Amino acid sequence: MTRIPVVLTGQALQSLRDSGYSLAAAMGEVIDNSLEAGANNVLIRMDEAPAASRSKKSHIHRIVFSDDGSGMDTHTLHHYLQIGYSTRYMRTDTIGKYGVGAKLAALNFGKRIDVWSRTDADAPWQYVYFDLDEALAEEQEGKGSSIGVDAPEAKPVPSDFDDILPKGTGTLVVWSKVDRLEEGRRAKDFNSLRLEAEKEISRIFRVFLNDGRNIEINGKSLLAHDPLFLMPDTWADQQLREYYRTGEGPRLGLKITEANYEAEEIAREPVKIGDHTAYLTVTLYPKAATRKRGLGGDELAKKLRIPENEGSISFMRMDREISYTNVPMIFGRRVDDPDRFIGIEVSFTPELDSYFGVRNVKRGFEPHDELRDKLRTALKRHVKTARDRLEERWGDVAKERRDHVGDHREITQAAAEAARTLPTPQAKTDIKPEEAYEELAIDVLGTDADEQAKANYTAQVKDLPFVVESVNFPGKQFMDVQHVGGKVIIRLNTRHRFYKEMWEPLSEISKMNTTAISPEQASKATRRAMEALTLLLIAYGRAESMHEDPHEQYEQLRDYWGMFLDSLMSKVKDVL
Ligand SMILES: Nc1ncnc2c1ncn2[C@@H]1O[C@H](COP(=O)(O)OP(=O)(O)OP(=O)(O)O)[C@@H](O)[C@H]1O
Ligand SMILES: [Mg+2]
Repeated sequence: MTRIPVVLTGQALQSLRDSGYSLAAAMGEVIDNSLEAGANNVLIRMDEAPAASRSKKSHIHRIVFSDDGSGMDTHTLHHYLQIGYSTRYMRTDTIGKYGVGAKLAALNFGKRIDVWSRTDADAPWQYVYFDLDEALAEEQEGKGSSIGVDAPEAKPVPSDFDDILPKGTGTLVVWSKVDRLEEGRRAKDFNSLRLEAEKEISRIFRVFLNDGRNIEINGKSLLAHDPLFLMPDTWADQQLREYYRTGEGPRLGLKITEANYEAEEIAREPVKIGDHTAYLTVTLYPKAATRKRGLGGDELAKKLRIPENEGSISFMRMDREISYTNVPMIFGRRVDDPDRFIGIEVSFTPELDSYFGVRNVKRGFEPHDELRDKLRTALKRHVKTARDRLEERWGDVAKERRDHVGDHREITQAAAEAARTLPTPQAKTDIKPEEAYEELAIDVLGTDADEQAKANYTAQVKDLPFVVESVNFPGKQFMDVQHVGGKVIIRLNTRHRFYKEMWEPLSEISKMNTTAISPEQASKATRRAMEALTLLLIAYGRAESMHEDPHEQYEQLRDYWGMFLDSLMSKVKDVL
């Protein structure tokens, strides 16, 4: 028998197609190569194909990558498609080192790779390609030994790629005959795939993006996504800015400025392994993101990618993320909801590859025992610190809200007595009392209040003819009045100047020990109160004037208001 080749090329490649790359990880291999070639711009185009049948959605049939890096000389280009070929084989100062990334990643999703490259801006583009179908056919015909890659030839780039072709040096890689991204059987539809790729790649290459390299997918420049919330101007910053400026944010009443978008650093420490050092960083997400208890899964949280961070650790190798997953064995204890606000990153250099279990697909993480123990010990401590800080923070938010509870209680109770002689209210509303008091309880106690607390609160106020509470609500009104079954619920807006500059300072002084009040403080508060009371009247008068016939409209209101005020003032006295 004759000697035979150790590899049956076509079939071996067919088998190697299942290397276990996710789409983003596979695309990451090409991006790695571009970044290492010094590219400032990596442009990616995911091309949509019509659905295979009417019941399916469109899918991706081709992915095109271009970079404006150094390009490949003809020798390197010729070997680009050769498995095992690398110009940085097993080096420890580069991202690539195995000589397989470019090909395995491509074959994982498609069956054909076309490559154009040039190292001289004025020279023609040089071209090589590999087609798995052609190779398999040759093998079938018994011509397997001739499967290979032809020498590069000068060949113009089809105009189809004009939009992303670099002007000077660089490389264009086209994956086509993509057969593993069909909707339904293997993947989601085109748009979900594109969004998923954007999301993953913006995190995987966050350091490069943050440093100013440009990666675009279908014309859109990616913003870095930092699961530690330490980088400025990231995807999350943009989401937070929107949320606090124009979105839901203000309704929560948390005043958050951009300076608060940065995480709190809990730990940053070296982890010694063998002769080398990895670094562990633990952060607690910024207040703007942790907000108050119970919001970790709402729309904003999802936009900030918070739920998926629960228990996740980001492993960074040479500033490029190789894994972002739940590592249960390493967390030190059971992962819990609030852990999603804790950012954890471990960064290392390729010298430590064997300890981190880095594989040729540069994906996944199987730590060496020693490393795992060290990380677990450190994390146990830091995660606890982060959790405690979070609890304090959430406690403070709840306390801030609760500070006002019952502020007006003595007066309203005294007024309830005095009101027995007032005429019966005429207001008809269809607000249901249970709902109104439930809402009030939430406004006063916070959304995280338990049922028992809300029930206690409601029991205390529901029979009073008036309830006054200082609460935080949006809008310009300084008070809101609700009529519920003959009872009046008044909310005083703690965000309004009238509350902040008059009510609150006076209320503080009223609670202080006389010896503790400074004359300056008292005098300042009374002067501001005088101003505020006069301005209150002026603003009221002016507001009346916005009606065409104020007399008709408001006279009765003024009559009653004056009458009730006089009566109540005569009876309610010295209750504070
Ligand atoms: N965009 C590019 N610009 C310039 N050279 C490139 C580019 N892409 C690949 N190369 C060259 O082709 C070689 C093969 O790339 P490939 O990704 O297969 O292996 P690698 O990057 O060396 O190692 P790894 O398998 O770890 O990624 C690289 O070593 C590099 O010299
Ligand atoms: Mg590579």
